[in-house]
Amino acid sequence: MTATERPLRYLAVLAKNTLVYIKNFIEDRDVASIMPSSPFLVRRMVEKMDLGTGRVVVEYGPATGVFSRSILREMGPEGQLILIETNADFVRRLREQFGNDPRVEIFEKPAQDVARLLQQAGAKKADYVLSGIPFSFLSAEESHALIEATREALVPGGAFLVYQHRDHMRRLLPQHFDHIEEGYELFNVPPMHTYAARTA
Ligand SMILES: C[S@@+](CC[C@H](N)C(=O)[O-])C[C@H]1O[C@@H](n2cnc3c(N)ncnc32)[C@H](O)[C@@H]1O
Repeated sequence: MTATERPLRYLAVLAKNTLVYIKNFIEDRDVASIMPSSPFLVRRMVEKMDLGTGRVVVEYGPATGVFSRSILREMGPEGQLILIETNADFVRRLREQFGNDPRVEIFEKPAQDVARLLQQAGAKKADYVLSGIPFSFLSAEESHALIEATREALVPGGAFLVYQHRDHMRRLLPQHFDHIEEGYELFNVPPMHTYAARTA
């Protein structure tokens, strides 16, 4: 692909995926966004991962796979990417895109099932869990239960990487993790608070 074709192709894929988001957003409130995350947000989150040999990454709410594609580009052949998505249309599109990649497992299930799904994928624990699901739609109890289930799903020293429009994770994460690194990505619609939460 030439240098002029690359941005045109990016814009074509963005336009197509934005239409898919809008359709699913209208039908399913849990989609919570009308367009995919920006390349700036994707880079900011993916560069927090060391995707060396045999890493296990879980992604909650991958939608059209904007983060998944970037992770798979950097992940070695021994790595494993477990995609957990509740929206059936997104799941169908993820299967079309990644169904032939032996590193990818796709589940049409809620993130709350993470422990069972890791087991089903043949993985003991994850090195990273990346989440874009709308925690603001969950009650405080539901949020705490999911954050705790995520912490238990991580290897010691693993990281829970979260991006959220609102900043409520700032209060929730410290109750479960020892170290939290915060950031803010302005170049995204909408701008996002970002967190990398690690266990000791
Ligand atoms: C804000 S969108 C983020 C999509 C994508 N990761 C991105 O950054 O463009 C949230 C996604 O999480 C999914 N989702 C919402 N609640 C979920 C849950 N409990 N478990 C798994 N996926 C969920 C939605 O269907 C949607 O695809």
